[in-house]
Amino acid sequence: MSRRFVDYDRVAESYDQRYALNRLDGVAQALEARLDTSGAETILDVGCGTGRWLSELAPLARHAIGLDRSLGMLLRVPEDDGREALVCGSGDEIPLRDSSVDFITCVNAIHHLAAPHELVSDGVRLLRPRGALAVVGLDPHQERDRWYLYDYFPEARGLDLQRYPSAEQLREWMILSGLENIETVVVERIQRRFTGGEILEDYFLQRKASSQLAILSDEAWSQGLHRIRRAIQAGEDQGAPPVFEVDLALVLVCGWKLPVQS
Ligand SMILES: C[S@@+](CC[C@H](N)C(=O)[O-])C[C@H]1O[C@@H](n2cnc3c(N)ncnc32)[C@H](O)[C@@H]1O
Repeated sequence: MSRRFVDYDRVAESYDQRYALNRLDGVAQALEARLDTSGAETILDVGCGTGRWLSELAPLARHAIGLDRSLGMLLRVPEDDGREALVCGSGDEIPLRDSSVDFITCVNAIHHLAAPHELVSDGVRLLRPRGALAVVGLDPHQERDRWYLYDYFPEARGLDLQRYPSAEQLREWMILSGLENIETVVVERIQRRFTGGEILEDYFLQRKASSQLAILSDEAWSQGLHRIRRAIQAGEDQGAPPVFEVDLALVLVCGWKLPVQS
């Protein structure tokens, strides 16, 4: 049995280590560029975690709201100058008024929602005219990505195909919900290579560090780790250590709520 939900309260303490490895500045730049043109009063970051994107965007808006299901993650959002409000709640049911937000972001979080399409329809409800909804995440439905985790833990890939909407699907949901001028752009490429035993030091190979591993059954987890150790051993025996590749794209899909023409 796989565990669908990741307990981010348990992950919170070590979560920001990922940003010491890679700040994902391409994501920050892409969000900032879209916020500028929306002239934002209020931004909302759904699944804001420890506040990586809030800290970039809050200084550019009058009000910034971070919403996350995990109190542990929210408690790690750095204190700011009072512009930010943090809400512990679910992105499946956002407790905000209609037409009260100018820019909604959701980065690496939509795959955790029970009904990801509802984030799009709810987003349209929450947005003021000229506001935008920007969703950023992996798209495992594209064949272009390489991730050794998917090779050694094939169950993880299967689950990701169920959890993540494709960029194309997101685009369709946005069109059906009435958003316009929809853009789909790769905003970040995460590329790393590990040789032989180096892989055992990869931060994302820790079970707490990637939701892909956190949701696996204990059996699938230990089988995958066993495959990796076997590959390392075989490489050592043959004098040709295996190469473990990471080449992942983070895709932004952004749609705009245009004013109704009279
Ligand atoms: C991979 S983290 C991403 C955090 C942040 N957006 C970032 O990019 O650093 C996923 C976040 O989604 C949150 N989350 C999971 N399910 C959620 C839900 N139903 N509603 C709101 N947040 C949720 C988790 O608590 C976690 O903080």
